[in-house]
Amino acid sequence: MLIAVDGPLASGKGTIAKHLANWYHLPYLDTGLLYRACALGVLQSGEDPSDEVAAAKSAKAVDRAALDHFQLRSARIGAAASKVAAIPAVRNALMDYQRRFAEQDGGAVLDGRDIGTVICPKADVKLWIYAPAEVRATRRHKELLERGEDISKDEVLAQLRERDSRDAGRPYAPMLRAVDAHLLNTGDLSIDAAFEVARRIIDAAQAEHS
Ligand code: CDP
Repeated sequence: MLIAVDGPLASGKGTIAKHLANWYHLPYLDTGLLYRACALGVLQSGEDPSDEVAAAKSAKAVDRAALDHFQLRSARIGAAASKVAAIPAVRNALMDYQRRFAEQDGGAVLDGRDIGTVICPKADVKLWIYAPAEVRATRRHKELLERGEDISKDEVLAQLRERDSRDAGRPYAPMLRAVDAHLLNTGDLSIDAAFEVARRIIDAAQAEHS
C-alpha cells in the first residue's frame, strides 16, 4: 500500500505519516529532509539557497547519510529549504530518490508537499493534512524551543506565512492538495485523535479497493 501525506508546515503531517508507517509496517520517508539536506549543503559551501547552480549541485549530492544531520530541523534550514525547493533542477534531482522509495515492494508512506500530485499521483490513499496558521505556529514554536532555538512565536508565524506562500506560489510542483486527497484538519485534534482519523480513512479506502 502506498500512502501519500501532504500539507503545510507543522500541520501534523510528519507525525501522522510516521504513526501510519508504524501501524501498517511500511517504510517511511520524510521528503522535506531531502530539501533540507540540499539547503544545508548550499549554506555549508557559503552559497545562496536561491542560486540555481549551487542548489542543483547540492541536490545531486544528497544521499541517505545526509538525512541524519541534527541541524536539518532548524528554522534557518527550513527557510532555506523552501528556497531551494522552488528550483526545478533541485526537484528533478530529488525525484528519483523519492520515486524509488515509493516503488519498493509492499509500499511505503511518504510525506511532503507534492507527493499526491507529482511524486506518487497513483498512490493508494492520499491525505491532505492542515490546520489554522496560528495553531501551526504555536506547535512549531514549541518544537523549536525544545531544540534550544531562541525564536519568538511572532517570528515563527511570520516565517510560516512566508514559507506557505512561497511553497504554494512556486510555478513548478507547488504545494497543492490532490483532487482525490482526503482532508484532515488537525487544528482541534490531539496527535492520537488525528492518527485515529487518518487510520479510519485508510482502512475505509482499503476496504473499498479489496
Ligand atoms: O516540517 P516542515 O513542514 O516545516 O517542512 P518540511 O516538510 O521539512 O519541508 C521543508 C521545505 O521543503 C518546505 O517548506 C518546502 O519548501 C520543501 N518541500 C517541498 O517542496 N516538497 C516536499 N515534498 C517536501 C518539502
